[in-house]
Amino acid sequence: MVNSIHPARGTSAADLADAALTQAVIDSFDGSRSARFAEIMRSLVRHLHAFISEVELTEDEWFAGIDFLTRTGHITNDQRQEWVLLSDVLGVSMLVIGLNNRKPPEATESTVFGPFFVEGSPHVELGGDLARGAVGRPCYMSGRVVGVDGTPVPGARVEVWQSDDDGFYDVQYDGLDHMQGRGHLFTDDDGGWRFWSVLPVAYPIPTDGPVGDLLAAAGRGPMRPAHVHFMVTADGYERLITHVFDGTDEHLHNDAVFGVRSSLIATFDHHEAGTEAPDGSTPDSGFSTLEFDLVLAPKVDTPAQS
Ligand code: BEZ
Ligand code: FE
Repeated sequence: MVNSIHPARGTSAADLADAALTQAVIDSFDGSRSARFAEIMRSLVRHLHAFISEVELTEDEWFAGIDFLTRTGHITNDQRQEWVLLSDVLGVSMLVIGLNNRKPPEATESTVFGPFFVEGSPHVELGGDLARGAVGRPCYMSGRVVGVDGTPVPGARVEVWQSDDDGFYDVQYDGLDHMQGRGHLFTDDDGGWRFWSVLPVAYPIPTDGPVGDLLAAAGRGPMRPAHVHFMVTADGYERLITHVFDGTDEHLHNDAVFGVRSSLIATFDHHEAGTEAPDGSTPDSGFSTLEFDLVLAPKVDTPAQS
């Protein structure tokens, strides 16, 4: 018997078999105002439907997924971006960065931006103190900003931010009344930059939200290998957002956000108290040094997208 509410299967637009359903949703974007929007949405629907069919998602699993995404939205605010963290731990951030930062092989590779950048960091004189009270083993960091042909880039803005010896960024401390472990410098005529800070250490990404639950369910660790963030801007060059990693860190091969590039792994040298530092001073405690050149790709003009 064919009842009036549910007509014979396959005869109604509301009663489509799986493949036809997918096609109908894809076709629903035919009237989109932007061709690029339509391309993205059709592909998203195709892959989303294929994923759900492949794993034969149960209704309980679908509800669990909705709950996860709801919690991700609820914990996100001006200070906490759980969506970006989710993108990071799923490798999406690094995939997007890789696709959008195809550079000459000589150029320094890009990696994740992370949630701890703050606008308006203090200006630090070349050779000055960027730690500004951050605890840790003193570390003198220096290098040059150059183009891919080795040309020095004078006047480049080098923005730096890093964790302290306890694995925390300044913004993670309640009530801290100044910025520390961050600052910006401008390169000298030879493209040189240098400053004192502290030796970075490995630290966990925030795990008190749904992304932490995901990592725990997967048996994955939350650690990021010790690194210093750099963002370099200069006229005529592509902006560089990257890290320099400590080559001795045990987490280099299981970075929670897949941000490590072998070209970004550097050697921090360690020196005893009383050794002369590269700036001619003789610190009365042990200290470390890092030397790393930041190589900028020339600016490419991207055509406007419709
Ligand atoms: C960071 O290195 O600051 C970072 C990057 C991605 C997620 C969390 C932290
Ligand atoms: Fe970081």
